[in-house]
Amino acid sequence: MGLLTVSGIVAGYSAADQILKGLDFAVQPGEIVCIIGPNGAGKSTLLKSIAGLLTPSAGSIMLQDRVVTGMAPPDLARLGIAYVPQEHNVFPTMTVRENLEMGGYVDPKQIPRRMEDAMQRFPVLGRKRRQAARTLSGGERQLLAMGMALMVAPVLLLLDEPSAGLSPKAAQELFDQIQAINKGGLSIALVEQNANEALAISDRAYVLVDGRTGATGIASELAADPDIKRIFLGG
Ligand SMILES: Nc1ncnc2c1ncn2[C@@H]1O[C@H](COP(=O)(O)OP(=O)(O)O)[C@@H](O)[C@H]1O
Ligand SMILES: [Mg+2]
Repeated sequence: MGLLTVSGIVAGYSAADQILKGLDFAVQPGEIVCIIGPNGAGKSTLLKSIAGLLTPSAGSIMLQDRVVTGMAPPDLARLGIAYVPQEHNVFPTMTVRENLEMGGYVDPKQIPRRMEDAMQRFPVLGRKRRQAARTLSGGERQLLAMGMALMVAPVLLLLDEPSAGLSPKAAQELFDQIQAINKGGLSIALVEQNANEALAISDRAYVLVDGRTGATGIASELAADPDIKRIFLGG
């Protein structure tokens, strides 16, 4: 059984709006699946639909054997879907510690233990727990955003362009962390502009073009495909 199965979803920002035009997408247990494609293709719209921020007008979304189409974001978080948006993914004036607490809001009793886990996984968050999030570097801020997502003990982590705006070195460190989180058993759907780096850590990939799947397959095979290389991977 798949972990996440998205079948034929139509979704957009108003009733008449069809940004996703009948899209299929799936994540199997233990996978990192990356989603690449041009600007405006609908990558973020897909993650928002899975996280419950947008309600599909057609199609279905299943988490394991449960239909979750149209459920509200906090309920999806309780079922284990954690979403890290591309922007505004931390509260800048709140401390690292307070941000992690906010991440755990769906299950307050679990906050102390999960916060300890997050600070163990990302030691820099422990060291800087009393600092405001705005004082963190870009890479540290992304670790905090992921730490907040981990506070719901997710079964599926949705990451929207986590490496955006980072130096190549910080981006590589972040990809290493994403891979380590996955090795711990967490399944991940990853939207990325740094397509080569994302494909390198992914099991499978989808190329989205204009709200549809343009190509899909094993990440290493897509990375070696001459057409994909020419169009999406800079030669
Ligand atoms: N909040 C919004 N309101 C209306 N249209 C939006 C909104 N966000 C994105 N769109 C439109 O939806 C389309 C897909 O956007 P998006 O999913 O953000 O693309 P991607 O993440 O692949 O770059 C684009 O045409 C974009 O203009
Ligand atoms: Mg986007």
